[in-house]
Amino acid sequence: MIRRSGVQQIFATPVWATDLEPAYAETLNARLLAEIRRLMGPQGELTVGRSNWQTDPLLHKLPEFSEFVGLVEDAAQRAAEYLKLRSRDFVVTGCWANYNPPGAHNPSHSHPNNYFSGVYYVAVADGAARIAFEDPRPQAQVMLPPVVEHTAYNGNIVLMEARPGRLLLFPAWLGHSVPVNRSPEVRVSISYNLMFRGYAEEISPPLWEGTSKIDAQDS
Ligand SMILES: [Fe+2]
Repeated sequence: MIRRSGVQQIFATPVWATDLEPAYAETLNARLLAEIRRLMGPQGELTVGRSNWQTDPLLHKLPEFSEFVGLVEDAAQRAAEYLKLRSRDFVVTGCWANYNPPGAHNPSHSHPNNYFSGVYYVAVADGAARIAFEDPRPQAQVMLPPVVEHTAYNGNIVLMEARPGRLLLFPAWLGHSVPVNRSPEVRVSISYNLMFRGYAEEISPPLWEGTSKIDAQDS
């Protein structure tokens, strides 16, 4: 009776994960951590206290972070290729480190006025940390029946493991949060935003081009 039966996932929400080679990540993370601690100032962890501490969102302008920013830009290029974007000229608009002591968390948020956002893990306790992504489809949460197994296709939260050397990239509009750090160790990450460099010229004009009866004129 049945000739074919299948399922197609539509309107997918991509989250790209890149894991660096462990040896390379270890060296890079040691340098990044030293630089982040230097930015804390002479008081070190006393500056942080027991809640989240962040650097200014300007790390992408510091030469000490240029190698790291290169990794972020490479990830954005791969994502843009995956999405078949015509314009792939991105600029990092903000980059900051997060220093989360035990007990700290980061509530739900998104990153307005950018196209991509992401986070890279510098120091994370073994297997203890997650980032929680929220279902961006509010209608889908009208019904959340009990399930026998949690998968990417049911529920309204997807947890992804945070581990040192892992670089995540996702749409800047995608809501996410960081659960409480229940480990005894500090969790250190670097967040970043990227936007189209030529947004006004390349992206915002209407997607249709008209009938060409009006010559484009500078006014
Ligand atoms: Fe975030």
